[in-house]
Amino acid sequence: MDYKKYIDSVMDFPTKGINFRDITSLLQVGPVYRAAIDEMAEFARSKNAEVVVGPEARGFVIGGPLAYSLGVGFVPVRKPGKLPREVVTVSYEKEYGVDELCIHKDSIKPGQRVLVTDDLLATGGTIDATIRLVKSLGGIVVGVAFLIELKELDGEKLLKDYDVFSLIDY
Ligand code: PRP
Ligand code: HPA
Repeated sequence: MDYKKYIDSVMDFPTKGINFRDITSLLQVGPVYRAAIDEMAEFARSKNAEVVVGPEARGFVIGGPLAYSLGVGFVPVRKPGKLPREVVTVSYEKEYGVDELCIHKDSIKPGQRVLVTDDLLATGGTIDATIRLVKSLGGIVVGVAFLIELKELDGEKLLKDYDVFSLIDY
């Protein structure tokens, strides 16, 4: 499948100089969305993942269907103030300043095999924070899966200890 055909590239979004890879143009074509999830699920299945974890918001659009396909649970990672029960929080660097992500404290059991996923790997800050949350709860990250990886930003340098799958590379 030529997935790139379905990813629109939008120049100067959200700021000047950024060539934004837009997944929404892929998501809106049902058979292509399904094929993409199926390929990611094959990777996740090969890792015997017992639970899928993904960060808001676009990580939900990938992680939810992945978990459904595997027949395992989905655990959301969210910005502060969104999860109602007790959480663990980590900080991470954004382009401008610092941000935080949270996970429910009881969402992963120690030793559980976790597949971490998101729509896109850029600098790696978001996925690194998500992995730190999983590990703080004792989860074992058995794989990390992306729809898109922006190779030139070298986010993989933060993921060298993990088995990384990306469906589309730029
Ligand atoms: C985007 C994208 C990834 C992250 C990748 O999310 O969905 O989560 O950035 O960038 P990084 O590798 O440099 O961390 P964004 O923070 O824009 O939030 P959204 O999913 O709510 O749109
Ligand atoms: N596309 C979508 N999300 C992103 C990008 C991009 O090119 N870079 C950082 N987050």
